Amino acid sequence: MVAQAFGDEHTRQKLETVEKCLSVYTTALKRQNFELLYVDACAGSGSSIPKSALAEPQADSGQTNLLGDPKPVIDADQIIVGSALRALKVQPHFDRYLLNDVKKSNVAALRAAIDADFSHLKDRIQLTRFDANEMLTDLCKRTNWKATRAVVFIDPFGLQIKYSTLEALGKTGAVDVWYLVPVFAMYRQIRQDGGVLEDGGRSVDEALGTEEWRNVVATEEKGQIDLWGNSQAVSKRAVDVKWFETVAKERLKAAFDGRVVDQVLPLGRSGLHEFSLMFAWANPSDRARLASKLASAVLR
Ligand SMILES: C[S@@+](CC[C@H](N)C(=O)[O-])C[C@H]1O[C@@H](n2cnc3c(N)ncnc32)[C@H](O)[C@@H]1O
Repeated sequence: MVAQAFGDEHTRQKLETVEKCLSVYTTALKRQNFELLYVDACAGSGSSIPKSALAEPQADSGQTNLLGDPKPVIDADQIIVGSALRALKVQPHFDRYLLNDVKKSNVAALRAAIDADFSHLKDRIQLTRFDANEMLTDLCKRTNWKATRAVVFIDPFGLQIKYSTLEALGKTGAVDVWYLVPVFAMYRQIRQDGGVLEDGGRSVDEALGTEEWRNVVATEEKGQIDLWGNSQAVSKRAVDVKWFETVAKERLKAAFDGRVVDQVLPLGRSGLHEFSLMFAWANPSDRARLASKLASAVLR
């Protein structure tokens, strides 16, 4: 098993929250005549290990590599099984699993994990290596949504997901979406003086599908009065991470015609609010509300 080094306890919490809903979803839809898809746009390698669990061997422990650098020893108890492998374990099974990651080594590691433990599901699994936006918009275009239902999990490291992708998902009228919104990455693009970083700001524009946020992120305050009684205006950042969470939820609502669960799960390392896990559903029918009720209960 090749585990990626990222995350921490919040990673486990995020994955358990999504996992709780998957088998209820397949059970509920099993008797309806839809093809059920599990779509993981940023599926990773199949598992991860918190960076804090990567310990260097002690110099006198007899475990250092005499020929070169000591390799960190992974504490196997701390390996976190990733979203794709959790979905493959869910009963009843989905009809198809579309697993994607942009990184070649992750796709290879995920393929090896599937060969080892899920070869019985191989016919149902499609592994791809595209940009998540490309993969999802293509899926939205190609699928007959009258005959298909899907759970889509979007779990990026940062500002990779474009708003146009969320709009395409909303328009299917048929997908449930779990989206780990990178709210801290949005906030970090604003300097303390309220200025917006050039490249990062453009990524926020794309993630939110608007530039309007730029109009409110800075404020001017009166500075200290100098010897001559004059004061120079001082520009300051006027928003926080929570503000970006509110804006991101409003934008998700706009893409899904209001169908976004109010409860949001804030997640991050060491008490830092880095991400907000949100749930949106595209199907306007009353029967589709079951998933949102469940999502709202597990996000509470
Ligand atoms: C937080 S990890 C996902 C972890 C995975 N869901 C799990 O449970 O183990 C984010 C993943 O997104 C992938 N990634 C980054 N940018 C991407 C993009 N533009 N398109 C698709 N995948 C991307 C990274 O290679 C990384 O594996």
